[in-house]
Amino acid sequence: MSLGFLYLSQEDVVAAGAANMEVCVDAIEETFSLLDKGDYIMGGADGNSHGCMLYPPKESPFPGMPLAGPDRRFMAMPAYLGGSFQMAGVKCYGSNRENVSRGLPRSILMITLMDKETGAPVSFMSGNLISSMRTGAVPGVGARHLANPDSEVVAIIGCGVIGRSCLRGILAAMPGIKQVNIYDPYAGERVAEQIKGEYPDLFNVLVCNSVEEAVWGTDIINVATSGDVTPMIEYKWLKPGALLSFPASIRLSEDLVAKSTQVADNFIMHKEWIDEGKVICNGDIYANKERFIKEVDDVAAYWQFAVDKGELKFEDIKELGAIVNGKVKGRTSHDEIIVFGQGGMPIEDVAWSTVVYHRAVEKYLGVYLPVWESYYDL
Ligand SMILES: NC(=O)c1ccc[n+]([C@@H]2O[C@H](COP(=O)([O-])OP(=O)(O)OC[C@H]3O[C@@H](n4cnc5c(N)ncnc54)[C@H](O)[C@@H]3O)[C@@H](O)[C@H]2O)c1
Repeated sequence: MSLGFLYLSQEDVVAAGAANMEVCVDAIEETFSLLDKGDYIMGGADGNSHGCMLYPPKESPFPGMPLAGPDRRFMAMPAYLGGSFQMAGVKCYGSNRENVSRGLPRSILMITLMDKETGAPVSFMSGNLISSMRTGAVPGVGARHLANPDSEVVAIIGCGVIGRSCLRGILAAMPGIKQVNIYDPYAGERVAEQIKGEYPDLFNVLVCNSVEEAVWGTDIINVATSGDVTPMIEYKWLKPGALLSFPASIRLSEDLVAKSTQVADNFIMHKEWIDEGKVICNGDIYANKERFIKEVDDVAAYWQFAVDKGELKFEDIKELGAIVNGKVKGRTSHDEIIVFGQGGMPIEDVAWSTVVYHRAVEKYLGVYLPVWESYYDL
């Protein structure tokens, strides 16, 4: 029996509608519902792993081995997702900040979809757009369930591809937004012009000179930066009722977690990063506090500090999936400040790439490539 798969280039996934954020937010909302119900499998011993990462060493005696550098890594993220998706898959990427000087994006991603019964490849596709869309859709789902419905002002801190996608996700979910504050010392003005062009109905796009200026009086704050300087957010700057969306590293004033409600995309995954950070810091995270924050690389480092001070219990951290399914109330008052931590999960990649694959098939997009005409059996 012959075997083959559908190859989808970036141009094919765009033509299939991969940039449609409204549809993506709905697909990712279903993904969170399935996560809460348990209709998924991810890697690792407990089936909740973000993925498996290769860290190039600082030095190596072997010629040709890749060496450590800024944002340099290889990653494989496998998952199965049920519900309307019924698909297995794996996202693979390589990341290297030096790519930018070569005219390439920092990370280059490909996604393989696999038949859930046979494991045979169904599709192999360009993953950059799909991955940034699913990442941006998560704050969209978060805003839909956690932001005050009368929210009007969004702050985007870090305006790379992920920050811009998160803005799209939030705008898709919150049609009442009138103003976007942006803070990115390297990309602010350029991104402001892009946003004004894309969303002519927005009342205002304000380029800010500091995190504090961007956050002041803001209803929804998203932080997605990369590099050596991670933004710090102080509780005293926040508007009552603000939603803070953190898909990347963040620094927080020590009182912020104690004075807000915590929501996770998948707490077990964040807890794994906390535990790995503790091991790297030889069990004493306070003798190596900076190292711990850097290794956890996630808002979860601050959850651990609050737990140690008796200001938070891990079991009080809410899960977005349970909120989506109506099992847990997300926001309980208009003035409540909510922190939504997102580590990113391969089920999100399987979800959005499966939707895009089916749309590509309907539109006869892509190239069907053979694996074999007939199986070569030794
Ligand atoms: N949660 C997830 O699922 C997920 C998925 C993909 C990427 N990420 C994370 O999102 C982050 C952003 O990714 P990206 O691909 O957009 O990176 P990028 O390098 O393309 O963009 C980052 C932007 O942040 C800006 N920046 C850097 N330091 C800043 C600071 N202190 N204040 C304000 N802006 C600053 C840079 O100028 C740049 O424009 C990364 O940390 C990445 O690991 C998370």
